[in-house]
Amino acid sequence: MSILVNLGGRLLPPEQALVPVLDRGFLYGDSVYEVLRTYAGVPFALSQHLDRLEGSASRIGLALPLRSLIETEIARTLSASGNADSYIRVMVTRGEGTFGLAPSLSDEPRLVILVRPLELPAPELYARGLHLAIVPVRRNDPRTLDPKAKTGNYLNSVLAIAQARAAGADDAIFLDLKDRITECSSANIFFVKESVVVTPPLTQGLLAGITRGRVIDVARAAKILVREEPHGTGALTQADEVFVTSTLREVMPVTRLTFLGESAPGPHAVGSGVPGPMALRLRELFRASVARGEMQ
Ligand code: PDD
Repeated sequence: MSILVNLGGRLLPPEQALVPVLDRGFLYGDSVYEVLRTYAGVPFALSQHLDRLEGSASRIGLALPLRSLIETEIARTLSASGNADSYIRVMVTRGEGTFGLAPSLSDEPRLVILVRPLELPAPELYARGLHLAIVPVRRNDPRTLDPKAKTGNYLNSVLAIAQARAAGADDAIFLDLKDRITECSSANIFFVKESVVVTPPLTQGLLAGITRGRVIDVARAAKILVREEPHGTGALTQADEVFVTSTLREVMPVTRLTFLGESAPGPHAVGSGVPGPMALRLRELFRASVARGEMQ
C-alpha cells in the first residue's frame, strides 16, 4: 500500500516525512485532525470536515493555516497519489517550541496530509455484524477534554479499544460518567426500538460525526422517526437493532454486546442476533444520497 504524505507542502513517501521530536503533536497530542474518504475520487463532505477541523482548533485555541491552503494541499496530494479512491487524514499540530506546556511557546502550526488507497471494512463485517464491548473506561466528560474536539490526543479511544479487543470484541462503547451510552472509539452509535431510531444527543459529550448527521438527515427525509436522547445500557439490551456510523464504516450493524465488569458480561445477542433491516435500509439511503452527488 503506497502512502503519500504532504508535509508542510512537500510530497514525500512516509519514510522521508519526518516530524521533529519537539513538535507539540508528538510531545502532548497538541493537534487536531480529520479523517475523510473519497467517493469516485471526490472527498466526501469536505466543507463539513473543514468546519469540524476549525471547531476542534478553536476549542483548543490552535490557529489553523488558511482554509484555502488546506483545500489546495488536499487536492494536490490526492491528484499526486493517483488513487482511484483514497483515505485522507488531515492533521494540524501546534508546531514546535522549547519544552513547556504553554501554547505560546510554539512557533507555527504544522500541516500534514496523509493519503492512502481507500481500504474499506470487510463485507463479512456487514454480514455478521459487530461485537461491541461496553468498556470500563469512560468517555471524557465535556468539562475535561471535550469529545467534540477531534484532537490528536486519542488515548481515551486507544484505551477503550484495547479493553474491547482484550475481551474478544471488535470495538468499544463508551459510557459517560452518568452511565449513559455516548459513542464508540471512532464511530457514533444508534439503536432502534419499535422502528424509532435513537442516538445520544451531541450535548452529552461526543463527536458530531458527519456520517451520524447525514444518516439522521436521510432517515428523516424517508419519514423514519429519529430521536436524539440520552439512554443507559438497558436500552441497548432491549433494542431491536444497534448500529454504528463513521466515515469508513458508513452504517454497520452490531449483533453482539459484552458488558465488561458486570456479573453477566455476555456476549448477549442484539435483537434476533443478526443484522436488522433498519441498518441495511439506512446504509442504502446513505449511499443513495452520496450517489446523487449530495457530497457537500
Ligand atoms: N473517526 N466518534 C469518534 C470518537 C470518531 O473518532 C469518529 C470518526 C466518529 C465518526 O465520525 P465521522 O462520521 O465524521 O467519521 C465518531 C475517524 C473515522 C477516525 O478517527 O479514523
